[in-house]
Amino acid sequence: MHLADRLKNLGTETAFAVSEAAAAWRAQGHKIYPFHLGDINLPTPANIVAAQSRAIAEGKTGYAPAAGILPLREALAELLGAQRGVDYTPANVAVQPGGKPVVTKFLQAVMEPGDEVLYPTPGYPIYESQIDYFCGVPLPYRFVESADGFQMDLDYLEALISPRTRLLIYNNCQNPLGTESSAAELQRVAELAIRHNLWVLSDEAYFDVRYSGKTTSIASLPGMQERTVILYTFSKKYAMTGWRLGAAVGPQEVIQAITRLNTNDESCTTHFVQWAGVEALRGEQSAPAAALQTLQERRDVTVEILRQIQGLVVHKPESTFYLFPNVTQVMERLGVSHVAHFADAALKNTGVSFCTRMHFGRSLPGETQQYIRLAYSGIDTPDIREGLSLFRDWIDHTAHQGAAA
Ligand SMILES: Cc1ncc(COP(=O)(O)O)c(C=O)c1O
Repeated sequence: MHLADRLKNLGTETAFAVSEAAAAWRAQGHKIYPFHLGDINLPTPANIVAAQSRAIAEGKTGYAPAAGILPLREALAELLGAQRGVDYTPANVAVQPGGKPVVTKFLQAVMEPGDEVLYPTPGYPIYESQIDYFCGVPLPYRFVESADGFQMDLDYLEALISPRTRLLIYNNCQNPLGTESSAAELQRVAELAIRHNLWVLSDEAYFDVRYSGKTTSIASLPGMQERTVILYTFSKKYAMTGWRLGAAVGPQEVIQAITRLNTNDESCTTHFVQWAGVEALRGEQSAPAAALQTLQERRDVTVEILRQIQGLVVHKPESTFYLFPNVTQVMERLGVSHVAHFADAALKNTGVSFCTRMHFGRSLPGETQQYIRLAYSGIDTPDIREGLSLFRDWIDHTAHQGAAA
């Protein structure tokens, strides 16, 4: 049977292949330390679970409006607007089954085939997949690494822009880098978007996953609200990855188009899950605060042990639950030239499983450094200590053996 040709353009999240490799190794009786997937092994707060049960008991099990139930849209408009210092009404909100659908629906709503789309690489791989699938022209932009972490290469970004460039995908609190823009960087991105009249998708999946300071949304900057659609998700802040609840928040005309796509795609987001979302936003916030403390502790332990590895460079971001260590020198010490071989050897020798730069979009010419990504959201602190100590000792031992040989 024939499958549609357009599927050739559809990418995927290759990180799931890393999960499969880790699961296969575990099935052979080995202990795994899963740093590969951005899932959270903390429970969804009890008040949210109870709100869903209540909603089911109350019979909130039929179809809901395509844009989402009004109380949830009201809560999102009010709270997101207040945090960002902008005014939203429920007409600016279309509830989604997760944050991910916002990427595809935003592109379908505003991108014509042949439009150029700026997006980050390394970055969340679904951007590239969906741009390709809907026949946009991908324009990946890059980052530079300094002692302070990763910064957008803004001159490079600006040089990519042509009259055919119509969209910019921007992910402050970035997966996989863990980085966020300085005020100056954010300002310049906004200026470019305004000067070149770009639509902006502001992926704010990790807006609230932060340990100190405050995230700034690009939608807060003058002239940006009217051109920006925010990807919001309950997945990370409220440990609700499997519930599938998120929202697109932006100008009314795009939200109307996205709502029409909702009607075509899923009719509505699961009705009773939306009531759980209302509780998440309006209810007790102590559980998400405690989850952040746990994540911060995990971050600190992860960084502490990684920094004991000679030649490994790791920055300590204040947001997200990702680290993106530079392992170029470590690989040189081990005599390994391909980062995939490094990841495979680490899994087989220590059980430590992680993604690499290759899982986050196309590489750009001139990339010479090697990186891996560790997510510490799905692994308890004692296992972080145990797994990364094995990883550190394996590297030291193997490098010494190589040097002696
Ligand atoms: C940068 C980024 N955006 C969006 C998402 C989508 O999350 P979800 O669909 O679970 O809301 C993720 C998930 O990992 C992400 O890392």
